[in-house]
Amino acid sequence: MENAIIVKNLTKHYEDVTAVDHISFEVGKGEIFGFLGPNGAGKTTTIRILTGLIRPDEGEAFVAGFNVLKSPLEVKQRIGVVPEVSNAYIDLTAWENLVLIGRLYGIPAQRLWENATKLLKEFGLYEVKDKPVRAFSKGMKQKLLLCMALVNDPEVLFLDEPTSGLDVESARLLREKVNQYNRDGKTVFLSTHNMEEANMLCHRIAIINHGRIAAIDTPENLRIQSMELQYIEVAFNKPVKPQEFLENPNIVNAVPAGNKLRVYTPNPPVVIELLVDYAKRRHIQILSLNTMMPSLEDVFLKLVKGREAKQ
Ligand SMILES: Nc1ncnc2c1ncn2[C@@H]1O[C@H](COP(=O)(O)OP(=O)(O)OP(=O)(O)O)[C@@H](O)[C@H]1O
Ligand SMILES: [Mg+2]
Repeated sequence: MENAIIVKNLTKHYEDVTAVDHISFEVGKGEIFGFLGPNGAGKTTTIRILTGLIRPDEGEAFVAGFNVLKSPLEVKQRIGVVPEVSNAYIDLTAWENLVLIGRLYGIPAQRLWENATKLLKEFGLYEVKDKPVRAFSKGMKQKLLLCMALVNDPEVLFLDEPTSGLDVESARLLREKVNQYNRDGKTVFLSTHNMEEANMLCHRIAIINHGRIAAIDTPENLRIQSMELQYIEVAFNKPVKPQEFLENPNIVNAVPAGNKLRVYTPNPPVVIELLVDYAKRRHIQILSLNTMMPSLEDVFLKLVKGREAKQ
């Protein structure tokens, strides 16, 4: 598969912080690639390097076939960006913003008019195209930013936490549009701290933490890797010994958690039955029972710890 993005050993320091720490990865043409990480992980810094806004201290990157450092204009012509902080002028109307960005790209007037009209209609903004952006809600603004990123028919689309702060419906519309754009064979690089979003949208995900990539895989494989981090928290009306559960092959670990028992398992339904049977046999009662999915933090901890152990 041809690659839309190639990153080799990219590194960026800010004074005493290493924002991006020798990362390497490739994104195939037509892929939706997720960059998943907590605050300060280095997501925005990576996107800013790949879109030519800042220079790395080390390493190199290619986007849409061009070297980001040596041919920044060729790269800019072929990408669209929805930045973390809005790049729309709030005193201009939606239409004026699109015209402005279209002119920056050098899009011929007729095509610009067509693209802007089509995008505004698709995103439900056509009716408000002559209103100043300062009157837009957060969701409307974010839709406009996506229109602005798409107005030059980019080959690669960069999105920095595009649905952050949006309501469920606006977030879904944005994801739908990203999917639609991708169906035409275009590449998407998306940063998020939302595991569910990465799950829904991305073909592959890189988990980034402290400027380093802890794992790159499909959402399914990442989930499987973390399955044993699921646990069931159960409260009985009498004390039980965690050791009693450790021999079952479906149980990875069992530890006390306050007055509850926490049972780690890749297979919650089987273990729930087992706990119910156990309670019946012992003539005790289950007061509460919850299945807990691994949080993003759990997955991180596991991946980061796993890596440190190997080093
Ligand atoms: N211009 C800057 N000057 C100094 N430090 C910076 C600058 N930009 C980023 N950093 C630092 O680099 C690290 C990575 O920041 P970055 O913005 O890339 O993270 P992020 O993953 O996008 O986080 P968030 O989810 O909060 O947007 C952080 O420790 C941040 O404080
Ligand atoms: Mg960021």
